[in-house]
Amino acid sequence: MKKLKTARTAGFCFGVEKAVNKVYDEVGKENGKVYTYGPIIHNEEVVKDLTEKGVGVIEEGDDFTKLEKGTLIIRSHGIGKTVQEKLESAGMTLIDATCPYVKKIHNIVSRECEKGNKVVIIGSPSHPEVEGIKGWGNEETVAVNSFEEFEGLKIDKNRKISIVAQTTYNFNNFSKIIDKIKNLGYDIICFNTICNATQERQSEAQKIASEVDAMIVIGGKNSSNTAKLVDICKKTCKNTMFIQTLKDLDSEKLLSVRSVGITAGASTPKHIIEEVQNNVRSQF
Ligand code: F3S
Repeated sequence: MKKLKTARTAGFCFGVEKAVNKVYDEVGKENGKVYTYGPIIHNEEVVKDLTEKGVGVIEEGDDFTKLEKGTLIIRSHGIGKTVQEKLESAGMTLIDATCPYVKKIHNIVSRECEKGNKVVIIGSPSHPEVEGIKGWGNEETVAVNSFEEFEGLKIDKNRKISIVAQTTYNFNNFSKIIDKIKNLGYDIICFNTICNATQERQSEAQKIASEVDAMIVIGGKNSSNTAKLVDICKKTCKNTMFIQTLKDLDSEKLLSVRSVGITAGASTPKHIIEEVQNNVRSQF
């Protein structure tokens, strides 16, 4: 008899699940136009489904005043204070689905700026989450992706610095950067704001991939966290398949295996995972 093991951490993390549910709740209310600020998640199926249900996507450069008034859901990445204020003054009713772990960073950044400290965000400056975090700081707040970038800022050593991290930043790299900054003699307060969801998903995927004959990774083709899962799984399980939905699954590849593992990226809805799971089970 074949064995099937699905990762407990496969699919949406708690923050994404909450945000996606909020959009569907609002659509169900039929209370006027519903928007999200940026696509709610990087999953074509979900975005297509929401578009068909009439949900609009507002992008950064849009003229908010020209949009039909309605309800706007802020996705789990969050947005900056000024953007939020602009949306409110354009007459939008905001529903804040910023992940609480991200909101916590916004609060730290505001508070540390009020104290007069210089805030440094360790993360990818162009990532929407980091742009949002920066938007709760002041004109001095900066984002850097490496120790070298921090060094390049040439911050006055007498400045007190408060440091936060993008939630998905690699913990080991963050610790190394902090140690190096301390070694330069800076007076810093460090807030470890990294969320464990990504790390846990990757560790579990690696463990399952090392125990099975075939591994299925489900996720969007443009999802970087799914691509990372595929890389991790391939290292221990040569027979790793990357699929977006059940349609992409080559069942022939499962004929001769005795055990199958399944995991999924952070933007993969539960029903897609279950469909794959049920299909694989039906072949046993
Ligand atoms: Fe998800 Fe929130 Fe962590 S969106 S990855 S639970 S910071």
